[in-house]
Amino acid sequence: MSDRILNADLAGKIMSAEEAANFINNGDNVGTSGFTGAGYPKAMPKAIAAKAKVAHSRGEDFTINLFTGASTGDDADGVLAEANAINFRTPYNSDRTLRNQFNAGEALYSDIHLSHLGQQVVQGFFGPMQVAILEVVKINEDGTVVPSSAVGNNVEYAQYADKIILEVNSWQSAELEGMHDIYEPEQLWDRTPIPITNVGDRIGETFQRIDTSKVVAVIETNEADRNSPFKEPDEVSKKIAENFLQFLEDEVAAGRLSYDNYVMQSGVGNVPNAVMAGLLNSKFENITAYTEVIQDGMLDLIDAGKMTMASATSFALSPEAAERMNEKADFYRKHIILRPQAISNHPEVIRRVGLIASNGLIEADVFGNVNSTNVSGGKVMNGIGGSGDFTRNAYISSFVTPSVAKGGAISAIVPHASHIDHTEHDAMVFVSEYGYADLRGLAPRQRAERMIAIAHPDYRAQLEEYVERGLAAGGHTPVHLPTAFEFHTRLAETGSMLKQQDALVEN
Ligand code: COA
Repeated sequence: MSDRILNADLAGKIMSAEEAANFINNGDNVGTSGFTGAGYPKAMPKAIAAKAKVAHSRGEDFTINLFTGASTGDDADGVLAEANAINFRTPYNSDRTLRNQFNAGEALYSDIHLSHLGQQVVQGFFGPMQVAILEVVKINEDGTVVPSSAVGNNVEYAQYADKIILEVNSWQSAELEGMHDIYEPEQLWDRTPIPITNVGDRIGETFQRIDTSKVVAVIETNEADRNSPFKEPDEVSKKIAENFLQFLEDEVAAGRLSYDNYVMQSGVGNVPNAVMAGLLNSKFENITAYTEVIQDGMLDLIDAGKMTMASATSFALSPEAAERMNEKADFYRKHIILRPQAISNHPEVIRRVGLIASNGLIEADVFGNVNSTNVSGGKVMNGIGGSGDFTRNAYISSFVTPSVAKGGAISAIVPHASHIDHTEHDAMVFVSEYGYADLRGLAPRQRAERMIAIAHPDYRAQLEEYVERGLAAGGHTPVHLPTAFEFHTRLAETGSMLKQQDALVEN
């Protein structure tokens, strides 16, 4: 018997993914593991995609409704989208083909807060779930399983689904065992407080209990997570990171933060990694993270002794860092806890630990309303992810962004956000390469002044003109409805938000 599959009954269910695909039918609700390119099943999506292609070639319908933790990889969302095998998908997605299908109305997408989805599934909001497909590191003798590099919604999906398919991936380090903390809150209406008071508190078990009688197939794989290569931060990202670190320093000077109590939440990407690189040489010590993904920069902070504990639900690592994790998992296990996303992103705990949230955005308006998801109001990019869970409940909610996108044709600061994910009541601090705008305690007309100060210089006059029109129109919030979307309409008509096309900035 394989040293990864120790339960005799389940070892008897080993089969190929192609055989297991017989358990998936047209129209099924399928819940999978996987979060930000980690821990997703690698074999079953390809087999389901192949099955869909065969059905389509015969003129038959075949699609599934796919529920995950968050984004997966080319060999999951990617292959399924290519095969037109997804009818409905939730939550967060970063696959381009699938995104295009959502925006063309060819597939449906429901963008749900990551901490909410598991409960919504279990409460039956989406109907029954026929199959759960989970990637695991190991099946224990007693039939419990050790999750892999993400926990996501595995607990809810395994409980709720009629059938379970397990993928045992030997690429994942067996040393991940012990890193997880699987805790289930009581079901409604018998809830008690979640007993996490410090980021590093362990409150559950290191393995997941599943009903083994529901397991219909076990598949052996040996494939890497998506693990996008790490890009060196560019000059703009470095400047944003510098401004963010200045904001932290100013919080210390104001007595609202000290060098040894910074609790971080960070979105993924270039800017957050530049922030973490900056923290390596800062005065901040004993940093902790209550966040949803572990990134390269966090491993560096842990290696340097600067970060003592990081709680998340998955990894989002470069191939190099993923190898480092696999080689040194026994070391990182002392500093990293992987929890279900209902807990890593739980509003109650987020509020209690007092973290400083920091996420990217598509655009923010001059009053501090934030669009994280829909370009020009309706074209979805990725989704809200955990940004709502953290922004609404953080001690301080911040957003980091370059002042412009697409070579300067798009301003990140606009008169009126064309879609709103986070309102002015939640968002507090905005950071661009031109500085930071601290909106705490300010009225809308005061906020506008601060936001314009961090906009790209080429857009400031246009934004000021807008606010002047708003002030002339009167009201607590100086909006001017007839021209609220003038940046967006100009972009649609001319390809740029700038009044004069020839004034395009190089960025
Ligand atoms: N209009 C059109 N495109 C825009 C845009 C805008 N206003 N702002 C950014 N973009 C594009 C960029 O040009 C880039 O496109 P490309 O991939 O074709 O080059 C892409 O969006 C990513 O932007 P970038 O500046 O590299 O920042 P990012 O990687 O931080 O992504 C978000 C920004 C908003 C897309 C990303 O942070 C996100 O999906 N956020 C929502 C979820 C979230 O916050 N998760 C973390 C919670 S824990």
